[in-house]
Order: sequence, then structure tokens, then C-alpha cells
Amino acid sequence: MNAEQILKEMTLEEKAAFCSGRDFWHTKAVERLNVPSVMMCDGPHGLRKQEGEGDHLGINKSIETVCYPTAAALASSFDRDVMRRLGEALGQECRAENVAMLLGPGLNIKRSPLCGRNFEYFSEDPYLAGEMGAAYVQALQSKGIAACAKHFACNNQETRRMSGSSNLDERTLHEIYLPAFEAVVKKGRTRSLMCAYNAVNGEFCAENKMLLTDILREKWGFDGFVVTDWGAVKDRAKGVSSGLDLEMPGGPNATGEELLEALKKGELAEADLDKAVLNLLRFVETAVRQRDENAVIDRDACRRLARQLAGECAVLMKNENLLPLKEGQKVAFIGEFADKPRYQGAGSSHINVPHPVSALEAAGDAVIYVRGCDVHSDRTDEKLLKEAVKTAKDAEIAVIFAGLPDAFESEGADRDHMHLPDNQNELIKAVAAVNPNTVVVLHGGSPVELPWLSQVSAVLCMYLGGEQAGAAAVDLLYGRVNPSGHLAETWPVRLQDNPSYLNFPGEDGVVTYAEGIFVGYRYYDKKELAVNFPFGHGLSYTSFAFSNLIVDKEKLTDQETVTVSVDVTNTGKIAGKAVIQLYVHDVKSTVRRPLRELRDFAKTELQPGETKTLFFTLDKRSFAYYEPKVHDFFVESGEFIIEVGESCRDIRRSVSIHVEGTTPLSFTIDANTTIGQLMKHPRGAAFIRQMMGRSDGPSGSEQAEAMGEGSEKIMQQMMFDMPLGSLVSYGRMTGRQLKDLIVSLNA
Ligand code: BGC
Repeated sequence: MNAEQILKEMTLEEKAAFCSGRDFWHTKAVERLNVPSVMMCDGPHGLRKQEGEGDHLGINKSIETVCYPTAAALASSFDRDVMRRLGEALGQECRAENVAMLLGPGLNIKRSPLCGRNFEYFSEDPYLAGEMGAAYVQALQSKGIAACAKHFACNNQETRRMSGSSNLDERTLHEIYLPAFEAVVKKGRTRSLMCAYNAVNGEFCAENKMLLTDILREKWGFDGFVVTDWGAVKDRAKGVSSGLDLEMPGGPNATGEELLEALKKGELAEADLDKAVLNLLRFVETAVRQRDENAVIDRDACRRLARQLAGECAVLMKNENLLPLKEGQKVAFIGEFADKPRYQGAGSSHINVPHPVSALEAAGDAVIYVRGCDVHSDRTDEKLLKEAVKTAKDAEIAVIFAGLPDAFESEGADRDHMHLPDNQNELIKAVAAVNPNTVVVLHGGSPVELPWLSQVSAVLCMYLGGEQAGAAAVDLLYGRVNPSGHLAETWPVRLQDNPSYLNFPGEDGVVTYAEGIFVGYRYYDKKELAVNFPFGHGLSYTSFAFSNLIVDKEKLTDQETVTVSVDVTNTGKIAGKAVIQLYVHDVKSTVRRPLRELRDFAKTELQPGETKTLFFTLDKRSFAYYEPKVHDFFVESGEFIIEVGESCRDIRRSVSIHVEGTTPLSFTIDANTTIGQLMKHPRGAAFIRQMMGRSDGPSGSEQAEAMGEGSEKIMQQMMFDMPLGSLVSYGRMTGRQLKDLIVSLNA
């Protein structure tokens, strides 16, 4: 099939109808022109292929298959290779199932721990989310299956998700909420993007020209197609003229009537409709070309992969010389999640798993088990609690499997607090009180408050680790796998510490991102707040040392790159994987900036005593912030510190470099421009210097001398904050002269 040729042969009616889906999961066929219908399915951590009745909420059945770790867990691997292995496996499965596109990855930033869908998202950090997403997209698409990055953009909560507006400033949008999408477009070359239900600053994403055309296509060069989130269309014609291509789910009544009507009225240009049709035809054309009738999938191999990945993703948060467990120790597994693990979230990503593996099943006879409490309730069952305490007392080690039950987090609803159910907290406290060797294994898609943290010896977080989470937990507890996950989000002490606390989930359908760029560790670090576990934190059964942090140049312009290298040594007694995080800190900036920002990372396996040298390349974006005055990323000249460490609060080595920005920050001067601002303008500075030179009043330093020590700074500040217009009031120039000056400086 040839997309361009088919477009020429399509009637207007065919084109208009083609831009809506046939049903829940298929595009429409154009039989007359041999354009087939192709299928898309939900992911992102498994294949949710529905052969019977379709739905987008996880209600009806889908095929039995493998559930991999969810995005919250995956990002904690800090490993692009984990994403590659997952993407390839999913791609192969889609091939075997004749599915042309998988609806993922989910890239939205974790603004608040309360977002019900956080388990489907990677991180609070845009760089990490973008890198993980791009690796997944590349791998999936290498198998001929289109990825569909979602939900574009600012869909960071479930409350009023289909009708609300996320309101934020330009810098925050570009610095925090867009870069992950930019990465999957530019680096991942995603063939599709799903626009979000919500509005951004009052304009719905499905008809947001700024997002769908100006940024996505014109700034980033996206050449794929945009599909709506299911049922996100408001104004069809406005959507198509703004850059929307496919409406889903559509159905038999979606004939494109509104588009034809708009064409007739001149509200939609035929050229815009053609663009949408061509984008879609190209998708179908590629899908047909890459179809492989003979592809097969080995689901047993996929299950083994799911277990390996879950082991790479889990985070050992705390360990006071207790783990790994030793064979032969008397271990009690306590808590229902040991028997029935919580390993995925509810909603459109829900995978139909025939047999999830529990920790109890994986551990077999090595452990004894008691239920401890009812995970579907908040209330303590005294009988179960008593039994748990007695069992814990008799055991050498008590391992409690705890976490958020299904009813606490799901697509479609946000949490309203950050607690575990009360009965679980009570169980943990009671067990820890009788057994000093208490381990907590946590399940859930998002951070929870940990009121018993100081009373337990170890905490292992599995997140929602996929169908093999139970087996992987046992691998990790017994040291058959050395933990290597690191947190992709901060675990605050309490919800009130979270930067979005006062503005989540908003009021009356409007949520204001008042915290701006200070999301996650960018906020906690700047405020120097104590947290339970910082971004990037993760322990291992071995230890790593960092040395020889070297830059290949100490001075560069923002048009050049700098190569950073660092040696990492395994200083422990067993093999393990180190995660090296590279942060950049701008020493002095005229705008507010976070203390440090993640700019690269790597994961590497090291044998005991082994050293490896790792290399990183930093470019303009590594040093830049988004400057609304130039509507672009901008580097302010000065000193930057490059830091490497094992978390944002465990920096091991740092080195300083000087970066020279090459973009002039032009701005318009008016009577309200201050002397200080003018000093940054080449001709403005010359004028000020000249004016100061012919000053006939007492000089700043004479006055300062009269005021006493330290006051020179105050005098200078006062002077710098004076607006240009005030020079007229102070008789330094006439109004006419001021006007001429402004015209000449702006020329
Ligand atoms: C979700 C999407 C999902 C779609 C199809 C929507 O409700 O927001 O993430 O891909 O349904 O199931």
C-alpha cells in the first residue's frame, strides 16, 4: 500500500470517517482501497489484548499473558537495558498477536504521591522518565510495533482527569512536564503520541495547537500521529486543525460528520484533514509492511524475564546488617501479600495473569506463614494479630509483606492520604516490638508514610513488581540476586512535606502548579527538608567507591560538549550492580534554580574488587534552564559543579567547570527596567557607567562609609533596583531624553 497514493483516491467522506476508530481497539478499514484495519492494545507493562467486548477500564477480559513490573518499579532499575529487554519482549508478543501498536509508555511526571496512576509513570524527574521511555520505545519499535507515548501533557492526577485544567507557567511546562515527551520524540522516535484528557492552561490537549503542532511537530520534529485518549475529544474540527489525527474509540456512529460540516462552513481546511489522514495512513502502511505472520511468543521465557526484571527494579531501602537471609534460618512470612502479592494496578493497564507467583510459593518449605491482617480492611483483627506476634516471637526473622491494597490506588481516582491501612501499621509495630530482626517488604505504586521505620531492621520495596514480584522478593531476600534498584522518586516523611500539598488536586476542575519547577527532590533539596528516602537512594549487599572524576575540559561554551569520566570500584565481597548518578549544580544564577538536577546516569555490574571507568557526555541542555524571554533553553555563563553519587543526597565526587552561554538574552527596555537589569545589557551598561561617571552627588561609597561597614552592598542594591524612569524624577535627565534613550537602547 502507498499512503500518498491512497490519500489522493479517498473521498472527503472516507477521509473524515477514517479519522475515528472502528471500535475500542481498531482503526477503520477502507476496503475499496485495500486499507486494512489495524489493532492497538493497552500496555504498558504487558499486553492487554481484548478479543471479546472492549473497554478502557480493565473491566472485561483480555488474553492471558505475562505482567511485567509496572513503570514505577521499572524506573527504579535506573537501567536503559531493562527497558530494552522489556520493550523487545513486548514487541515480539505484539507481533505474534498481530497488534500494531501498544499504548505506552506513560510519561507523566509524579507531581504528587497521591496520583492514583503513579504506578504507571516513571519518575518525578523528567530526564530519568525520558531516558527510560526512549529506551522502551526504541526497543518496542525495533520489533515493528508502534509505541504510543502518553498522556501528552500535564496529566498528573486522576481527579477531574477528563475535564480539568492543569495550569502552569511556561518555564515549568518546558523544564519539568515536557522533556520526557521530547526525549521519546527526538531520541526514541515514537511513531505515536496519545494526547491527555485534561486541558493545559484552559485549552484541552486534544485541541491544543501549542502542544500538538507548535511544540510537537514544529519544535521537536515529530512525524508520527496523535491519537486521543479514549473519549478525550471535545471539538473534533478544532482538534484536527490543531494537529490531532485519530479519535478513539470511535465506533459505528463516528462517521466524521462534524468534520464534513466544519469543512463546509470553512472552519476546517481540507489540507489539515489531509495531513491527519496521511499521518494515519502512514502508520497503517508501516504496520502492514512490518507484519510478521509467522511470529511466535514463548511466554515461559517471558515469565523468566519478568522475574529477572523485578529483581533489577526492587529497592533495598534500609538494611541494618540483617539481609540477606541465610539458608536454614527460621523465617516467618507474615501478611497476606506474601500469599497473594499485589503486583499491578487497576484500570486500563490491568493484565490478565493466569498464575502470579507469590513469595510464599517461591520460598516453599523454607518459611512459615501467617496472615497477620486482612488486607482488604483497615481494622485490626485481634486474633490474626495475636497469631502474628506469637509467630514472630518464635522466629529468628520476621518478614512482613505489606503495602497498598487495590482499593487505595487506581486509574480514575487519587488517594486522599499517604498512609498504609491502619491495621498494617499496627501489625508491623507489634511484630517489630517482639522481634528485632523484622523486615518489611513493601508493595504499591507510590510512596507511603512509614511510621515504624526506625523500629524495623530492613525495608525492601518491590513497588508493583509484576506477576513474578513474589519470586523476585525471595531472590532478593536470600541474596540470590543482589539488590540494585534506586528510587526514581523521593519518599517524603509525610504528605504535608510534598511541594504540591496545598495545590493538589485543585479546586473546581482547576489545578495550579504553584510549586513551579520545584517538583520532587528539586524541592526537598532546596528546602533542606528531611525525607524518609531521597531520590536516587538504593542499597546493595556490596558497596561501591567512586574516584578519578575527570572532565576533558574545564572551560567550554554551550555549543560544545564535555566528557566526564569516573572510576567505580566494588569494594565489597560479592558481585553487584552500581548505579552512578550525575547531577549538575549551577553555582550562581540570576533565576531560581534547583540545587542539583539529574543529567545522566549509568548502571554497571562489578565483581568484588573490580573497577570500571564510566563516561558521560554533557551538552548545552545539561547546564540550561528554560528562559521564557527567549522561549528556549538558555545557559547563563558561570561556574557549574558536576557531581556524581548514589543518590541526590549521597554525592561522592564533584568537579567544577566554567560554561560560557552564547545566546544573548535580549530584552526590551522601558521606563520600568531597573539599573541592575540594564547593567546586563551591553549598551545599557555603557550608558550607566557613563552616567555614574558624571554624577555630581555624593558617590555610593561616600554614603556607605558614613553608614558603616557592610552598607556598601545595601547602597548598591538600592541603586540597582531603581527603575530607569526614576532618573527623570531625580532630575538626572528630562522625559524627552529618557524616551530617546529607550528608543536608542532598544534599536
Ligand atoms: C487511559 C489510557 C488508555 C486508554 C485505552 C484511557 O482511559 O487513560 O491510558 O490507554 O484508556 O484503554
